[in-house]
Parts: sequence; C-alpha cells; structure tokens
Amino acid sequence: MNAVLSNTSQSIPSFVKHPALIAWVQEVAALTQPDQIFWCDGTQEEYDLLCAAMVKSGTLRRLNDAKRPNSYLAWSDPSDVARVEDRTYICSETPELAGPTNNWIAPAEMRGTLNGLFTGCMKGRTLYVVPFSMGPLGSPIAHIGVELSDSPYVAVNMRLMTRMGKAVYDVLGTDGEYVPCVHTVGKPLAAGEKDVSWPCNPTKYIVHFPETREIWSYGSGYGGNALLGKKCFALRIASTMGRDQGWLAEHMLILGVTSPEGKKHHIAAAFPSACGKTNFAMLIPPKSFAGWKVTTIGDDIAWIKPGADGRLYAINPEAGYFGVAPGTNDKTNSNCMASLKENVLFTNVALTDDGDVWWEGMTKEAPAHLIDWTGQDWTPDCGRKAAHPNARFTVAAAQNPVIDENWDNPEGVAIDAFIFGGRRSTTVPLVTQARDWVEGVYMAATMGSETTAAAAGQQGIVRRDPFAMLPFCGYNMSDYFNHWLELGKKLSASSAKLPGIFCVNWFRTDENGKFVWPGFGENMRVLKWMLERIEGKASGVDHVFGTSPSYADLSWDGLEFTQAQFDMITSIDKSAWITEFGLHEELFQKLSHHLPVQLKETKAKLEGRLAA
Ligand code: OXD
Ligand code: MN
Repeated sequence: MNAVLSNTSQSIPSFVKHPALIAWVQEVAALTQPDQIFWCDGTQEEYDLLCAAMVKSGTLRRLNDAKRPNSYLAWSDPSDVARVEDRTYICSETPELAGPTNNWIAPAEMRGTLNGLFTGCMKGRTLYVVPFSMGPLGSPIAHIGVELSDSPYVAVNMRLMTRMGKAVYDVLGTDGEYVPCVHTVGKPLAAGEKDVSWPCNPTKYIVHFPETREIWSYGSGYGGNALLGKKCFALRIASTMGRDQGWLAEHMLILGVTSPEGKKHHIAAAFPSACGKTNFAMLIPPKSFAGWKVTTIGDDIAWIKPGADGRLYAINPEAGYFGVAPGTNDKTNSNCMASLKENVLFTNVALTDDGDVWWEGMTKEAPAHLIDWTGQDWTPDCGRKAAHPNARFTVAAAQNPVIDENWDNPEGVAIDAFIFGGRRSTTVPLVTQARDWVEGVYMAATMGSETTAAAAGQQGIVRRDPFAMLPFCGYNMSDYFNHWLELGKKLSASSAKLPGIFCVNWFRTDENGKFVWPGFGENMRVLKWMLERIEGKASGVDHVFGTSPSYADLSWDGLEFTQAQFDMITSIDKSAWITEFGLHEELFQKLSHHLPVQLKETKAKLEGRLAA
C-alpha cells in the first residue's frame, strides 16, 4: 500500500516547526526502522487516501455507499478484540506510586524490554506522525499529544476521535509541550513479505511512564490499546497530570439537561466500560417529559478543572465516539443510530449481503445471512454471534444530532452533579444521593460492577471499580481518593455550591434474572429527581447510605411501573449489605497504603447506621 501514499516523504513538512519534536520522530524512526515516515495533516483528502489504501490492502472494506455513505468495516484478528488490562503497565518510579491496582515494572527494566521489542518493529511499514489535541485547540483545559504509529487504521481513527492535524502544530509552535505516544502493531515485514489484514503480535505491552508522561504501546491494533489519546493519555497520563496540577481526568460522560422552563444543568457520570454510557449521554426523554432536552458534551471522558468562581468546569477531551455497537438500535438509542448514518468506521460487526453492517440487537429479526466478524458465513441458527460483543463504531461527535452547543467550548461547562453507577444485579438501589462530598467519595470509591466484554477476561463477575477508574487511574488509587477529598475541601472554601454526588444502578434483576428497571430514556425520571434535589425542590428518604426517592418522589407519567417493582430495585437487604461492607473492607485492605482516614471513618459510620 505504500506506493499509494504519494505524499509520503522523508522530508519534514513546513507546518512542523518544533525542532525537539522532529528530533524525537527521527529518534523513534531510527529505533523502529520504518520504510518511510508519513506526517499526517488531518485533511479529508488524507483520510480518504488512507482508507482507500487500507481497502486495497484488505484491512478495510468499503460499505455500500447507497446504504452507509463513506463508511468502512474492519475485522480484527480474533486475538486482538479488546483492551488488555493484564498487559497494561504503569511504570512509575516506585511500585507505591502506581499502587496495588496497577501492574508495575521498574521503569529502567521496562525501557530495556521496550527497547528490544521496538528495535526494527516497523520494518517494511510506514510510520505515521499523528498530532492531536485532547480538548478544543488552545483551550486552557486541553493538552496536546503526538502519536507515532505504524497503523494507518490508528491514523484514521485518531482523525475521528481527536482534533487531529496541522492546526495542532500551530498551537505547539516551536517549543510547546506534548505527550509523546509511540505505537506499533509489532509485526515487521521482511522484504517482499505479504502483509495480513490485521497485523498484531501475541506479545502485548501497553506502557505508561507517568513521570516523563510517555506512552509506549506494542502488539495490538485495537481500541484503547492503540488509539493512545483515549484511555492511555486522556485517563492514565492525564490523571497524574491532574493530581500534580489540581484538576481531574475522569472516566465520565458529560451531558446537558434543559428543563421546559429553560434552566440548564450539566452532569458528569462515571460508569464502567459497556454499561450504557453512550445511551445515557444521548438520552431521549420519554414522551411524557415534553419540553425536556438532553444534549451530549461527551460520552466517555471528562477533564475537569476548578474555575476562578469555585465551580468545576468540564470539557470532553475527545472529538469522537468509539462506542460499543451490539445492543444499539433505533429503540434503545435512535440518536446514536442517527449518528452512524455515514462517515463511520466499524470494527468487528457483521457484513450484510447488501454491503451494510449488522450487530446483535440492531433489529428484532436477524438477517437470514451475513458474513460474521470472523469472515465466515453466518445464519441465525449457526450458534455463533455475528458481531463480536465488543464490536465498535468510530464516528465524529459532530454527527450526533443532540450534540450540545457547548461541546466544543474551550471554557468547558460548569458541573452541577456527579453520578456514579455500576452494573449490579443485586444489592445497590436505583439511586442514592450522598449527604456530603466525603460520603459521595466513599460511594464512588467502593463502587462495584459486573465485568463486560470491553476488557479481555472473564465476564459477569463483580469487581470493585472505584470511580469506574480501576483500569484507568495512572497512579495509586488511594492517592486518587485523597485528591478528590482535597479538591472537595478546596472547593468548599469558596462560596460556590459543590456539585451533588449520586450513585445509581440501572441493572437490578428479578428472580428470573430479568432487568426490572426499563432504563434508557426512562432514566430521565431519575435524572429529573436529581436535578430537583440539587435545586432543593424534591423530597427523599434518608436511609443508611444517603437519600433516595420514595415512589411518590419520581414522576411516573407515561410509564407503568408499580410500587412493588420500585421496591424490588430500591430495597436495602441488610445481609447483602453486611456482605457488601465486607467487600469494601477487602478493597480498603488492598488499598491500605495512604487510604484516607475519612473513608475508613465513613465506612464505620455507615456500618453503625446499618447495625442500628
Ligand atoms: C471504552 C471502555 O471503550 O471503557 O470506553 O472500555
Ligand atoms: Mn470508557
């Protein structure tokens, strides 16, 4: 495919004016030995050229333009389908700095390993220089990264997921700061060797050096392993930057909610991977909520900085969505489906006979025949899934029909409430408001969730996922809790009101394992109660863990949901909570180094209430 890239050049384009950056690219090229260097400018022409080259090489298939204009489908190697948490490393100076929730290897040892792996790893390939801004270009909350990758799939995904291209060099100037990100699929080509459609390596390393703010990724071409602006930079490296500089990098969607009276609130919500974040971020209020409007600022990550007025301002550092496709349909998320009409990159979904895409849950009836994500013929009775459960779409945020007018505002939006939610079939009630900041931090810190296909490994087991940051916090989790507590203290000193903190669980099941709460747009009922609480307008019931609505406190117009059903998803089972506190204790034992004393005190207080 290299021949197709006529503008590939060893010479440095005039728009790159940063000598240290140029020297770094040359240094990495000397190590990895690519055939050529391609300096991405982020234009549509470049995107089209790279996609066409990947169609030629077999990495992409162009979809039927009549059905899905300007869209492509990639099928990955079956061994490379999700984030690899057990191969993800935080190589801080000491193991204590990384903490017990992260894999740690001493930086010098890891550098030795990477040096060996990266030597000659790009032979026979092109090195793409991908400049990107996380956040609106030039925003005081944004930061810049440059990814060097031998994957054109990464280059085009980065154009959809970030503000990528020439303008980044203008912001960088001759000496601006950037986070260096080096990525390889780890499959050099010998002279004349034919490439495979999805090159990767069974050996994988996703490595972060927090002190030097560097990212090195080896062996995977998929998602968060390879699109280094997302989890690696915007969460793991950015969380350490936030710790040092007094801000937050969070695994949170951001949405705007406007009431019929025109009052607007902004909410940031943390959920573990594949818990319906995209659906929540694009929520469509039920018909009975006429006049309410929900708009999307972000669907996955929030960077949040205290403003001069003592409020917290959030931006979405990303510019696109890398969402889970299975389960998405016109009923569950018609805004998302509308976003996916054109200009989409799909990965690991199935191909229909007329050149479009399909995934489980997209339509009630599956098509009679498909080519599945492994390239095999598929029929509804074949016993296999047509799309991989972690199949994804990549699409520019601008295509979202309910994008918020401020989604690209460099100043960000002022956050009124934080929501934390896990996937729990039992124990945790539908919604609880923390009585104060410390109680909210306790709720978030002890969050548990049943695991999903977004990460490799066993699914459906409950794991503690503090702040939905377990795989994404770039430093010691207890220090991260401290950072949240300190920020709360600092903000309380100002006259501004602290954001409310709520904990939700959409996923309680009945005795047949069926979800009781309808979720999706109906979550608006819970959202409305939260906003009324913030405004001091709604009542609630004070209980062991905080404040929850009674049945009468929620609006039920247009939904048949009985008091008995409500009780089923809000009940607090004392013995289940005794077990739950045992699990909190296990987590606290694991995180005992630097664990804030306030969290231990809060636990004792809550246990005392439960026992009373
Ligand atoms: C994601 C994840 O892809 O959390 O957003 O895994
Ligand atoms: Mn995520």
